[in-house]
Amino acid sequence: MLPQDQVDVWKKRVAGHAHPMEFAIDLLRAIQAHHGWVPDAGVELAAEILGTTPLKVEELATFYDKIYRRPVGRRVIRLCDSICCWSRGGVELAVYLQDKLGIALGETSADGAFTLLPSCCLGACGDAPAMMIGLKTYGNLSPERIDQILSAEADEARP
Ligand code: FES
Repeated sequence: MLPQDQVDVWKKRVAGHAHPMEFAIDLLRAIQAHHGWVPDAGVELAAEILGTTPLKVEELATFYDKIYRRPVGRRVIRLCDSICCWSRGGVELAVYLQDKLGIALGETSADGAFTLLPSCCLGACGDAPAMMIGLKTYGNLSPERIDQILSAEADEARP
């Protein structure tokens, strides 16, 4: 789940801290960054490092929608389906993306490059319609712009 040297660093960081659970999300993100997603073994490792139960970690892991408890593609596309984006062509773009990637919302492309997920507001309403890929937000989307973005992201996402 994590290389031993990283486990040791996390254990040192947590040791003696009055509120170890404050590290939980950062630790889960580290596991996800290393493994691609957070399997049960990742939850168990985080619980061991934090000195708590897997259930406590699981409660957090399943609350935050950017912690992935199932395998995802190398890039996760989060397409906003909230009101501003919806009213500015978001539904049509959702159809376009699904057709282009050959997958439905919630699925991963056959080459493992992209997972497509619906998302609540991304805070980019002024640039609606918008989507996030990884930590980048893309606004003013059109089919042409999506083509350019996916092409660049696919290059970066090559294994
Ligand atoms: S409604 Fe889509 S970014 Fe806010």
